[in-house]
Amino acid sequence: MSSSVSAFAYIIASICFIMALRGLSSPVTARRGNLFGIAGMAIAVVATLALPQVMSFGTIIVGVLIGGTIGTVIARRIEMTALPQLVAAFHSLVGLAAVFVAAAAFYAPETLGIGTADDIKTASLIEMSIGVAIGAITFTGSVIAFGKLQGILSGKPVVFGGQHLLNLVLGIVLLLLVVWFVTSESGFVFWLIVILSLAIGILIIVPIGGADMPVVVSMLNSYSGWAAAGIGFTLENPLLIITGALVGSSGAILSYIMCKGMNRSFFNVILGGFGGEAAGPGEDMGDKTVRQGAADDAAFIMSQAKSIIIVPGYGMAVAQAQHSLREMVDQLKTRGVEVRYAIHPVAGRMPGHMNVLLAEASVPYDEVLELDEINRDFTMTDVAFVIGANDITNPSAKTDKASPIYGMPVLNVEESGTVLFVKRSLASGYAGVDNSLFYRDNTMMLFGDAKKMCDDIIKALENI
Ligand code: TAP
Repeated sequence: MSSSVSAFAYIIASICFIMALRGLSSPVTARRGNLFGIAGMAIAVVATLALPQVMSFGTIIVGVLIGGTIGTVIARRIEMTALPQLVAAFHSLVGLAAVFVAAAAFYAPETLGIGTADDIKTASLIEMSIGVAIGAITFTGSVIAFGKLQGILSGKPVVFGGQHLLNLVLGIVLLLLVVWFVTSESGFVFWLIVILSLAIGILIIVPIGGADMPVVVSMLNSYSGWAAAGIGFTLENPLLIITGALVGSSGAILSYIMCKGMNRSFFNVILGGFGGEAAGPGEDMGDKTVRQGAADDAAFIMSQAKSIIIVPGYGMAVAQAQHSLREMVDQLKTRGVEVRYAIHPVAGRMPGHMNVLLAEASVPYDEVLELDEINRDFTMTDVAFVIGANDITNPSAKTDKASPIYGMPVLNVEESGTVLFVKRSLASGYAGVDNSLFYRDNTMMLFGDAKKMCDDIIKALENI
């Protein structure tokens, strides 16, 4: 393929990637966005394989077969709730790839046209050292994020005295090593950069608690994009530079949106120490009491209501209750009840988590409203049906300055006539904060698994 044809193919692929990001910004257009992404990637792969620099296909085919098989098996088996750790695991591989590409470029520079063994272009040495550092940090950082999300490592923040100072000193040492490498072209310094960056990746992620891991994953997504862009410069591949920059900037924007949803600054998240101290059920309840109900009670209350707002959270995802929930809502709608869904920007464990699940259950998009669109309507609503959500409804975020979630925007469910709370116990949510809503007079706790509770309510509705 001539260079002008491949350049044209790369431009088309880049446009597809931009259209993919555009499509993925709304559940209505997400499928189309995915198709654009697939088309762009197919064009990019074919155009790259047709480049004259590609001498043989043997190892490439073996790699594609192994990687493709692993990817297909994982994609078919993965649970929706495990997606954040899967993304973290994928990012670790992007980071590792950046390290290997940089090492290949360093040891065989002539194959990439960036110089000879002892005389590599200075610009390439700079790109290589920065790329390898970001790649190695992304690798170990993503492995730790994966371990915390998967429950292999404790979700609690690991904090010790002088931690930030240590990270700062190591960051400065890393910069000095990059300068040393660029001036000396030493293989020893190259591997020193790798080892130090691997250590920094671990050290910057361990103090961050499980609750903030989604932000970290999105941040690592951003790093992996910049690492890919760095590889693009080394390989002089414009598509990789564009794609890397798209991933890098979209990951950074997503991290910002998540921080805003929690009313936390980016630095507050990165400096760590938040979350992970889950209070157990009934712990320190004092003389607080809760009103408990059963599926029959919930069915009766909802069948008498004119308007209901459903507030889904992480527990709905765990229980995979979205289909039963939609069936329950269908039943209520046939009785003339107006039902809408309120989605908090950080409900669940990843951006758009609830939207994806509700879309999977064919809930109409126009019934699904964002926090800003619906929060004022709770006062005019008869019932708020909170299903597997907790932190995103906690009023202490509005009133208790000492609360770790103070300032986070929350859904005003307590303003509705009755709050029905479906969860298994009085345990706290991911932020580890007790929720005073459980003990309010207009709250009825419906203890149990979210899916089973919806199924029981459907049965009870049939008898009303
Ligand atoms: P959480 O506050 O974590 O509450 C989820 C609740 O679901 C738990 O209290 C749990 O109570 C209940 N639950 C678990 N399994 C259940 C099941 N099978 N059936 C019924 N209930 C079940 O979730 P949320 O309200 O969605 O809030 C999200 C949290 O994640 C926030 O703290 C947010 O800041 C954090 N976070 C989210 C994101 C994104 S992007 N979504 C990013 C960063 C941080 P029981 O154990 O009593 O059942």
